[in-house]
Amino acid sequence: MIYFDNAATTFPKPPTVRREIDRCLRDYCGNPGRSAHALSLAAAEAIYDCRAEAAALLGVPSPEQIIFTYNTTHALNMAIKGLLRRGDHVLISDMEHNAVYRPIWALAGFGEITYDVYPTFPEAPECDTTAILSGIEERLKPNTRMVIASHISNLCSAMLPITEIGAFCRERGLLFVVDAAQSAGIEAIDCTAMQIDALCAPGHKGLYGPQGTGLLALREGLKMSTLLEGGNGINSLDGAMPDFSPERYEAGTLATPALAGLCAGIRFVRARGIDSIRAAERRLYRRLRDQLTELPGVTLYAPAREGSTLLFNLDGIPSAEAAARLDEAGICLRAGFHCAPLGHATLGTGEDGALRVGFSVFNCAEEVDVLVRVVAHILHKMRK
Ligand code: ALA
Repeated sequence: MIYFDNAATTFPKPPTVRREIDRCLRDYCGNPGRSAHALSLAAAEAIYDCRAEAAALLGVPSPEQIIFTYNTTHALNMAIKGLLRRGDHVLISDMEHNAVYRPIWALAGFGEITYDVYPTFPEAPECDTTAILSGIEERLKPNTRMVIASHISNLCSAMLPITEIGAFCRERGLLFVVDAAQSAGIEAIDCTAMQIDALCAPGHKGLYGPQGTGLLALREGLKMSTLLEGGNGINSLDGAMPDFSPERYEAGTLATPALAGLCAGIRFVRARGIDSIRAAERRLYRRLRDQLTELPGVTLYAPAREGSTLLFNLDGIPSAEAAARLDEAGICLRAGFHCAPLGHATLGTGEDGALRVGFSVFNCAEEVDVLVRVVAHILHKMRK
């Protein structure tokens, strides 16, 4: 079996991740923060370790500003609904996936906010920072309060100029929210240097943790209203949620075994190094792109933008059908619209969506070559 669906969730996970989850469940899985006994304290310590690892990886000065969530969607809902006020205007990019688009669409539908979409030109050979910033500037309104940017698309490898958008927003007093669903663990992120107010990331993709983990890195001094309220062992006699991060935002028992696994995943990423991960995945990207370019009947989307994710179609074969044939050959990838209707419209993939290959550090060149051979075989059979 060859697994190329790493943009949806990485698989396999590093052995240290599996071992730490097991060790947590066997040795120290008390309820963190609820009791003062040894197992509760050990669980709280494991969670703190994960916060500290995440903060160090993401350029967040204080681990307390890392808030754990179930996934990126949960983190984005917290940031969007916790920071926006009735009457605000928001700008989102034309590559956002539904984790951004749906909460924004819902708030707009309830008449709470208005929004506009700014263009990002993913098909251009290089990121056009000037055009992207102009597109944002042209759409600003007196009530614009927030700009949201997907750091790297979940469809192709187009990356947005986060540092420049961050500086643009800070100069104008706009909140800057970054969706790092496809970039955390793959590209360097420094929330402080990039002037990010809220960074939302999954634990189960490029950070190699288990599903059910995600995080929100909130700029120090910024306060959100809460999405969930409930117990967490702090100020238990008070009806109000605590006033400080992360306890204000973490209601109910955290996923201790999963966060212990995430901590091991982040350690794996930091030990290997972002530069080395990026380079390895780009080598695979180039190998696949260059071979697919040679095959007649393959359409590639935004191929010049090298990264960890490649989107393509086989002419005359709906993407779901092509994915089913690849699955029969033991190759796992995702077809269709990837929860990203805005991005698919921007790339012009058509009514059947497209096929997506997402690499992880566990993929290799031989797997890419097998994929190309199977794609060539599918195209050959179709022509007969
Ligand atoms: N957002 C994830 C994807 O792109 C699940 O597949």
